[in-house]
Amino acid sequence: MGAPPHVSIARIATMVGQEVQLKGWVRHRRPSGKLQFLTIRDGSGDIQAVVNKGTLGETQFELANQLTQESSLVVTGVPRADTRAPGGYELEVTALEIIHVAEPFPVQPKDHGVGFLLDHRHLWLRSTRQQAVLKIRHEILKACRTFFEERDFILIDAPIFTPNACEGTTTLFQTDYFEQMAYLTQSGQLYGEAAAAAFGKVYCLGPTFRAEKSKTRRHLMEFWMVEPEVAFAELADVMDLAEAFLSMVVQRVLETRQEELKTLERDISKLEAIVPPFPRLTYDEVVKRLTSLGSSMREGDDFGAEEETLLSNQFDKPVLVHRYPVAVKAFYMQADPVNPDRALCMDVLAPEGYGEIIGGGQRIHDYQTLAARLEAHHLSAEAFQWYLDLRRYGSVPHAGFGMGIERAVAWICGLAHVRETIPFPRMLYRLYP
Ligand code: 4AD
Ligand code: MG
Repeated sequence: MGAPPHVSIARIATMVGQEVQLKGWVRHRRPSGKLQFLTIRDGSGDIQAVVNKGTLGETQFELANQLTQESSLVVTGVPRADTRAPGGYELEVTALEIIHVAEPFPVQPKDHGVGFLLDHRHLWLRSTRQQAVLKIRHEILKACRTFFEERDFILIDAPIFTPNACEGTTTLFQTDYFEQMAYLTQSGQLYGEAAAAAFGKVYCLGPTFRAEKSKTRRHLMEFWMVEPEVAFAELADVMDLAEAFLSMVVQRVLETRQEELKTLERDISKLEAIVPPFPRLTYDEVVKRLTSLGSSMREGDDFGAEEETLLSNQFDKPVLVHRYPVAVKAFYMQADPVNPDRALCMDVLAPEGYGEIIGGGQRIHDYQTLAARLEAHHLSAEAFQWYLDLRRYGSVPHAGFGMGIERAVAWICGLAHVRETIPFPRMLYRLYP
C-alpha cells in the first residue's frame, strides 16, 4: 500500500475517518503528559493534531518533542470532527516525519514594533492575521477580474516603462532606458484609452509607481491599480460602473471570506451596508458641507486627507464626489460644459474615514483642447504624440477610473495602514526585504 493521500487542511472535511497526510509547519506545540498538541498550518488553514505516546510509541513521541515553532513536517493521521476544535476538526496522529527543525523563530505572537515586523516581513507573512489580510486581497483581485469579465471587458495589460507622465511630474520614478529616459508608470490609463478605442471596453490590472515623499497610512511607492476604460462612456456612466463594482467586490469578500474577516475582528455590518445607491455630491456641495462642519478649506483647494476623512465620516457608504476644479486635477480631464472651471471627474471616498479609493472621470476627446492642455501642463508633445493620435482617428467620448487595490484592502479589512495590505510593501525609505 502506498502513502495515504496528501490533503490540504482546508479540504480536511472531505476525508473524515480516513488516514491522510498533511504537509506543513508547526505554529505551536503544547506538551501535556503522554500527549502533545500541535497546531499545524499548511497555508490553507490550521488544524490541531494530537500526538499520543500510546499510539505513536516512545521514539516517535520523543521526535515530536524537538518540534519548534515553524518546524516543517509531514504528519499522517485520521481527521475527526470536533466541535471544540478551532476549524471544527482534529487530527489523530499515526506517524510523524520531521523535514526541518526551525531555529528560534523571530516573530512571536506578542506585540513587536512595526519596524521589527516590517524588517521581518518575509517571516511575518506566516502569521494568522497577515494570512487573513492577504487572502482577502486575493479575493478582492479575483472579484475585480470577475466583475469586468462578466461585463465583457477585455484585459489589456499596460506597460511598466513609459515615456509619459500620467499623474503629474512631481511623483515620477525615473530610470535609464538605454540612453533614453523612462518613467515607471503612474497609471495604465493612457494605454487603456488606446485599448478602449480598439476593443470598446477594457481594463488593466497591475503595479503602478509614485515617488510620493509622504509618509502616511494611505501611501505606498508601489501599489496595484485596476483601471477600466470605456469608449462612448461619459462621467455618469463610470459613476454607475464604480458603484456597481465596489458593491460587488465587497459582496464577494463577505460571501467567501467570513473566517478571515472574523480573524481581523472586522465589523461585518459596516460592509453589509455597501449596496447601491451611494451618495453623490459635487465638489461645490462638499466644500459647503465641510465649511459648515468647521473645516478651514477654501473653495478651489483640493481635499487633503483631513477633509476626506471629515466628509466620509458623514456616511455609512462610499461617497461619489464629482466635478472637482479643473485646476487641481490631471491634464486629461474633460471640462464640464456647464461650468468650464469644473472637470467631469469623480473620486470615490470610502466610509469609516478611509478616504479616496477610486479616481477617474471623462477624458478630453477633442484634439485641439488636449494639445492646449498638454502645453499648459508643460508636457512634451513628442512623448504624447501617440496619445494625441487617439484624437485624430475616430475620437469618441470615453471615460474610466482606477481603484487602488491596497486602499480597498485596507478599508475592507478595517486596517489602520496600507503597509499590511500588500505582500512586500515599498514605502518611503523602505526597500527591504
Ligand atoms: O486618483 P489617481 O491618481 O487616478 C489615476 O491614476 C487615474 N489615472 C486612474 C484612471 O482614471 N484610470 O489614482 C487612483 C487610485 C487612488 O484613488 C488610490 O486608491 C490609488 O490609486 N493610489 C494610491 N494607493 C496607494 N499609494 C499611493 N501612493 C497611491 N496613489 C494613488
Ligand atoms: Mg486621485
